[in-house]
Amino acid sequence: MSTKTRVLEVLYQQPRAFISGEDLAAALGLSRAAVWKAVHSLKAQGIAIESVAGQGYRILAQEDVLCLETLRQALQSPEIELQFFDELDSTNRAAKEWALAGAPHGSLLVAARQTAGRGRLGRSFLSPQGGLYMSILLRPREEASTAVMMTAGAAVAVCRAVASLSGIQLGIKWVNDLFLQGKKCCGILTEAGTGFENASIEYMVLGIGINVTTTAQQLGEHADVATSLAAGGDWPVEATRAKLAAAVYHQVLEVYGELGDKAFLPEYRDRSIVLGRQVRVLATPVYEAEALEIDQEARLIVREPNGCRTALSYGEISIKLDK
Ligand code: BTN
Repeated sequence: MSTKTRVLEVLYQQPRAFISGEDLAAALGLSRAAVWKAVHSLKAQGIAIESVAGQGYRILAQEDVLCLETLRQALQSPEIELQFFDELDSTNRAAKEWALAGAPHGSLLVAARQTAGRGRLGRSFLSPQGGLYMSILLRPREEASTAVMMTAGAAVAVCRAVASLSGIQLGIKWVNDLFLQGKKCCGILTEAGTGFENASIEYMVLGIGINVTTTAQQLGEHADVATSLAAGGDWPVEATRAKLAAAVYHQVLEVYGELGDKAFLPEYRDRSIVLGRQVRVLATPVYEAEALEIDQEARLIVREPNGCRTALSYGEISIKLDK
């Protein structure tokens, strides 16, 4: 853990109370000069630390500063391989590169904004400041057919994380778009690297993009179909993007542990906003159908107007909800 992370940790333990440089240095086994340097650098990153001569340092507010230190602090697990970028083309692109370079299971890559965010089916994903863009690297030991269910599992994980921080309950539009009040607030893109010899999954990158405090202005032409967690006014100010990233990360790994018995599937179904509704299946050609159920493989079972039942698999197809 870096000196900055440790200093921040001590300051966060007593929000708004002054801690003298001497006490901080003693608590951390550092020199006062090292503490001063760390505080100076944290302040330069935008973290609201006040220094008063004769009193020491105090953290003024839990501001939403997303950086390596706030992420480390929120994750509370120093062993996690973590990379952070203020700006990046795409966390999924970088995470795949990292995977090929040998990054271990559970590595995490986060960006505060993306310049070329990738969406499903070759689309782009608008990624301005105010959102959270993260990719989690998994090296599944399960068979490929089981591992791909993490696509649905990630949706449940994000719903749980958001609910734990705010009480906000998100809906899932098959397969893994998350909706709040009828608009999309989170997209998930799973990409995998496979082993040629045994058709196994060597690594899987779960890319998660959440509009946290993104404004309608930032969403621009997408504002009629997209929203952010904060748009409804119920997102707590203390729920920073760093805390959200940490909550999502831990929930993803928890759901990963449920892959074997598929324990997350009932919640996935309960949160579905498509079941029982008319959908448009964006296949070639496009067709209308009724969404009937989600099976044990997280496939969406639809009934076409001619009565034919079809199981839709992730990756092949997209659906549109009829209003
Ligand atoms: C979709 O809705 O089509 C999926 C969007 C996935 C966006 C996330 S943001 C973090 C990660 N990096 C990317 O380039 N894409 C995913």
